[in-house]
Amino acid sequence: MTTNREIDAVTGVETTGHVWDGIKELNKPLPRWWLLTFYATIVWAIGYWVVYPAFPTLTSYTKGIWNYSQRETVAKDVSAARSAQSGYRDKLAATPLDDVKKDPDLLRFAVAGGGAAFQTNCAPCHGRGAQGFAGYPNLNDDDWLWGGTLADIEKTLQVGIRSDHKDARATQMPKYGLEKLLDESQISDAAEFVLKLSGQKFDAAAADRGAKTFTEQCAACHGPAGKGMQEQGAPNLTDGIWLYGGSKAAIVESIRTGRGGVMPAWGGRLDPVTLKSLAVYVHSLGGGK
Ligand code: HEC
Ligand code: HEC
Repeated sequence: MTTNREIDAVTGVETTGHVWDGIKELNKPLPRWWLLTFYATIVWAIGYWVVYPAFPTLTSYTKGIWNYSQRETVAKDVSAARSAQSGYRDKLAATPLDDVKKDPDLLRFAVAGGGAAFQTNCAPCHGRGAQGFAGYPNLNDDDWLWGGTLADIEKTLQVGIRSDHKDARATQMPKYGLEKLLDESQISDAAEFVLKLSGQKFDAAAADRGAKTFTEQCAACHGPAGKGMQEQGAPNLTDGIWLYGGSKAAIVESIRTGRGGVMPAWGGRLDPVTLKSLAVYVHSLGGGK
């Protein structure tokens, strides 16, 4: 290696004087702006280490001279939010369910809180938008199995449906097929009559036979015209809204098994203010009476 600097003939740039195997290295120093930026970042980093928490120590970490802590900031924000909320929570606890909507701020608080509690507790069964699934009712429409007033909804939440709560909403449709209360042809005929009630295609002769069974067996819960009865949780069979499905096969299955959907009681599990918020939220979804 020699150290003769020279001007490279091809590029016109000075070489460093380093030559390997006849290959010469051009002298291309880093641009000044780049170097200055680089040094500035080092200075910045050192400043950062000094003022902010930076390095782990054996048991803790360097706190920095500003003593900054995100954890404390969050804790402060949370406690500020809690105390802002507690005013509303106390107010909600003291306000009768029907009066909540008279106070727009309180209503907004209840709907927001109820919506959040819904996503956590109810969405797995009723869907994130409360749209429901087969066997799990849609809570947005104004078709109610057990009633759609605020008080009805709150009671449904409180005691559940066929739950283990002692005051649960408990009416159960008989398992006509499983318990051999009706034979297969009677069930099929009754289903034809339900098809007729719901305005679908039906077999006239079978539906006539089914009508008799319906009056004897079904009207007590579903009403003589099949319009349902909320005290029994018995759905309206004429409105085209089905919990389990409106095909012949689904109707036969409902009559055979009695279905008997179960909704847990939330009374002991959620605090009264959350329950109230949930009732207000569900009522606000559109179908509230
Ligand atoms: C384990 C599943 C499940 C969970 C969780 C659940 N539900 Fe239900 N819910 C049901 C079923 C099933 C029914 C219908 C029961 C029946 O067949 O009558 C129902 C019915 C209802 C009804 C009555 C609807 C009507 O038409 O009268 C309301 C209101 C309701 N649920 C609200 C809620 C709320 C609010 C929550 C959350 C706190 C919740 N549900 C959580 C399964 C569930
Ligand atoms: C003791 C009351 C009771 C009697 C009697 C009764 N039902 Fe029901 N029926 C119910 C209830 C309650 C439900 C809802 C079940 C559920 O929510 O899981 C229901 C659900 C149904 C469904 C499903 C509706 C849907 O939306 O998917 C059909 C169909 C039906 N009943 C038809 C009949 C027929 C036909 C008879 C007579 C043979 C009958 N029911 C007798 C209470 C009754």
